[in-house]
Amino acid sequence: MKHPPSENTIRLSATDRGLRAAAAMLRDGRLVAFPTETVYGLGADATDDRAVAGIFDAKGRPRFNPLIVHVPDRAAAEALAEFDHDAEILADAFWPGPLTLVLPRRPGGPLADLVTAGLPSVAIRVPAHKTAQALLRSFGGPLAAPSANASGKISPTTADHVLETLGGRVAGVVDDGQTGVGLESTIVGLTDGVPRLLRPGGLPAEAIETALRRPVSGPAEAEGITAPGQMSSHYAPGVQLLLNTDVADAGALWLAFGPLEGRRGLSLSESGDLVEAAANLFAHLHSLDAMAREAGMDRVLVDPIPDTGLGRAINDRLRRAAAPRPGDAE
Ligand code: TXA
Ligand code: MG
Repeated sequence: MKHPPSENTIRLSATDRGLRAAAAMLRDGRLVAFPTETVYGLGADATDDRAVAGIFDAKGRPRFNPLIVHVPDRAAAEALAEFDHDAEILADAFWPGPLTLVLPRRPGGPLADLVTAGLPSVAIRVPAHKTAQALLRSFGGPLAAPSANASGKISPTTADHVLETLGGRVAGVVDDGQTGVGLESTIVGLTDGVPRLLRPGGLPAEAIETALRRPVSGPAEAEGITAPGQMSSHYAPGVQLLLNTDVADAGALWLAFGPLEGRRGLSLSESGDLVEAAANLFAHLHSLDAMAREAGMDRVLVDPIPDTGLGRAINDRLRRAAAPRPGDAE
C-alpha cells in the first residue's frame, strides 16, 4: 500500500446496536466491512460515487473493476436491473445465496457510475448471511462490496483477516466470526440471451445448469473478467482524449485535474484530490462528450494526473478511453 493508515478501524458487534452504528457510518459515505456467507465484503453506499471511490482507494486497486451490488431481496434487485426469464429462474432457485447475476442495468437508476465502471450492466447479489441481511435492511439501500482485502491479498473469511490488510483504512468491521462458504459467489452473466459463467465460485455451475436445463457458456470475448478494459465500447467517449497535455490551449475543451483557471471544461477535482477525481471520472467523461458535441469539437485535452494511489486507476481508465477503436480512421 502506498498511503499510510489514517483512521481507527472500529470493530463492531453483530448486534442491533453494532449494525445501527455500521449503517450510520455507511450513510456518512464511509466504508464498513461485513460478513457474507462467502467472504467478508468491503461495503460502501452503492449510490454514492465518492464512497465507491473510497473502496478502490482503500483496497489499493490499480483498476476500476465493476463491483458487486448487494441488496436484501429480489424486489430491491428489480429496482436496479432488468430480469429476463433466465434471471427469474436463477433468482428464484438460488437467492438468497452465493450467486451473483450480471444483468442489464435499469436506465436512470440510482447507482453510482463507478460501481459498474460505466458499464450498461450491473452485478447483483442477495446474500443469505443473517448479519449481511440485517445490515442491508438497517442501511436501507444497495451496498457495493468487493472482498474486504487489499488488492492482491487473499479474500478474508474472518474480521481479523480484514483488519490485517485494511485496518486503518476503513471506518468499521462488523465481526460475526468465520464465514461459511469461504469462496466468492459464482457470477453468471445474463446480458446477451446466453447464460455465461463469468466466475466460478461458491455455487457449483452444475446447479445452475440443472435449474436452467441447459449448459452455461464461458464468458463472451467482450465480457471476460480477464479483460475488463474490453468489456464494452461504452467506456469509450465519442470524442478523442489527448492525455497528459500540458500545452496552453485556451480554445480547447479540458478535463482538468486541479483548477480550471479560466479554461473551458470540467475539473475532476479542483483541489487535486484523487478520491474526488475518481468519483467524478465517469460522469465528467459523459458530460464532456455532450459538451463537445454541442460545441462541434472533436477532442478533449486532459491534464496530467499523478500516477499514484487512485491516480493509477484513473490513468488506466483514461488510457483505455483514449485508445483508438475499431472503426476509427486507419
Ligand atoms: O462473494 C462475493 O461475491 C463477494 C462478497 C463480498 O459478496 N464479493 C465480490 O465482489 O467478490 P467483487 O466486487 O470483488 O466482484 C467483482 C467481480 C468483478 O471482478 C467482475 O468480474 C464481476 O464481478 N462483475 C461485476 N460487475 C460486472 C459487470 N457489469 N459485467 C461483468 N462482470 C462484472
Ligand atoms: Mg476479491
